[in-house]
Amino acid sequence: MAITDNYFFIELEDLSEKKIFPYHLFVFNPANESVSPFLKANSPLVGDKLDFLEFILSKGGRLAVDRKQKKTFLSTHSLIEEEFKGLQETIHYLDEKRAEKIQELEKQTSILGEMKFKEELLSSITDDDYMSMIERVRLETDTFSARVSHTVSLASYLCEKLLVEDNFVNRVVAVSYYLAKNCDMKDEQTLGDLICAAFFSHIGMTQLDYNLGHKAHLEYNKSELKEYKKHPNLSHHLLNKSEVELSNRCMNIIFQHHERNDGSGFPMYKKGEHIDQLSLILGAVSHIFEYSEGKVTGTKTNMTTVIRNLKNKSFTAGLEFEFGDKIYESLVNIINTETEEAA
Ligand SMILES: [Fe+2]
Repeated sequence: MAITDNYFFIELEDLSEKKIFPYHLFVFNPANESVSPFLKANSPLVGDKLDFLEFILSKGGRLAVDRKQKKTFLSTHSLIEEEFKGLQETIHYLDEKRAEKIQELEKQTSILGEMKFKEELLSSITDDDYMSMIERVRLETDTFSARVSHTVSLASYLCEKLLVEDNFVNRVVAVSYYLAKNCDMKDEQTLGDLICAAFFSHIGMTQLDYNLGHKAHLEYNKSELKEYKKHPNLSHHLLNKSEVELSNRCMNIIFQHHERNDGSGFPMYKKGEHIDQLSLILGAVSHIFEYSEGKVTGTKTNMTTVIRNLKNKSFTAGLEFEFGDKIYESLVNIINTETEEAA
């Protein structure tokens, strides 16, 4: 976490002629990037204390205020946040970091080559190892701007912290991300909405009977199926209650991720254009991984077979196709030639 997440810097002159302040003062040491308390609120900044502060500043130290006391600081000095330089530094700091990350991405791309989704996905499927794709999503999302929205910043943060291993959720996140890009949905807001939805869509399962998550969907009895179908709504509800800032579109993707193009999905039995394309992308990718993992039938199925059955529209119990032509074709085209060769 950056220092500027919790503090903002001020100059000695910003204190004007005042000697006592209703907020605490801190000093930042650039040598070890640490912040230490310097002067408690309502204590006078005079004499030796002021001399010592001037000495610290002359050595490159910086004066800082806790962000929790931002309003107190601004009102004490009759300042406006948008016009105060110290409070604009965080965003500048993030911009600088972003520029470094873009350089890193360019460097990695020159080593690894341009990302080719079809080849990368096939190689991941063949080796049953998606780590390389997951890492590339982390590298790309690391360069997302801090100026777009809270959801985009959260997506970037979640990727930075979580896309460090090959697991089920990370596979769904990575393949959804590149499938969306492959369908020409490339702006950061769209991808951020999809990423957050992919991470959070099954959070509602935590509220259901533990056994439901460990039983094949085709083996559910009527009441278990009814319970399972509540999970998109429960995820949506939990996230609303948590007050985490997510865009309306992201919340919609979560709510709709089991809707299907022909109206056969749930919970609202929406059809076609009434379903967000990103919900269908997340729905398609979640479904093929769930199917392959045996969560639908109780038996694992090789992903190449899952995709081939999808492509051939073979009637296979529990396998869904209704993700809309654009998304269906994107998935099928990705595996088309190679799958035929492998068959
Ligand atoms: Fe789901």
